[in-house]
Amino acid sequence: MEERTKYKKCEDSLTEITKLLQYRDINGQNRLFGGRLMEWIDEAAGVAAMRHAGGNCVTLMVDSLKFKCGAYINDIVVLIAKVTYVGKTSMEVRVDTYVEEKHTGIRRAINHAYLTLVHVDDEGRPKFIEYGFIPEGVNGLAEYEGAKKRIEIRKHRTTEGF
Ligand SMILES: CC(C)(COP(=O)(O)OP(=O)(O)OC[C@H]1O[C@@H](n2cnc3c(N)ncnc32)[C@H](O)[C@@H]1OP(=O)(O)O)[C@@H](O)C(=O)NCCC(=O)NCCS
Repeated sequence: MEERTKYKKCEDSLTEITKLLQYRDINGQNRLFGGRLMEWIDEAAGVAAMRHAGGNCVTLMVDSLKFKCGAYINDIVVLIAKVTYVGKTSMEVRVDTYVEEKHTGIRRAINHAYLTLVHVDDEGRPKFIEYGFIPEGVNGLAEYEGAKKRIEIRKHRTTEGF
């Protein structure tokens, strides 16, 4: 059994990506194309996971991807990815997406998603994550405890075939 002597906090891998919505990001209904946002979410989660693990990671699954409201041309869209849980080879990453109001800087949540990523070796096989995770604050601890329940639900869903 491999043991850990090194740890990282959420802030060590925190990843923020900012996009200005352009015509190439817009769908036929003049709003942000959901597939484009999913690409950015995957990218943000991947960077956070790689920063925590210190190596390559692949996306195993995405769940609880909920679009609360739309975003439109020339909107500033901000994605924030945070590691919420670290297992032996896998990590859960939460990505929150906001539209930033230009005049006030206030951010309105439009989406949140949980992703599971796996640290892999050069052959793409799961690899032990050397860095443990230290959850911090009330929110960090709640996310950490929630992650344990979400992992069980994911495994149950996989067993049930959906
Ligand atoms: C990700 C991948 C390497 C995992 O390989 P695997 O042989 O299934 O790995 P394992 O069964 O050893 O599981 C690896 C980790 O995922 C977790 N996991 C696997 N299935 C899971 C599920 N249904 N729910 C939750 N966690 C799960 C395991 O618990 C383990 O985590 P842990 O080590 O922290 O406990 C492999 O499935 C793969 O290559 N998938 C394609 C990835 C890809 O191409 N993504 C898109 C581009 S990035």
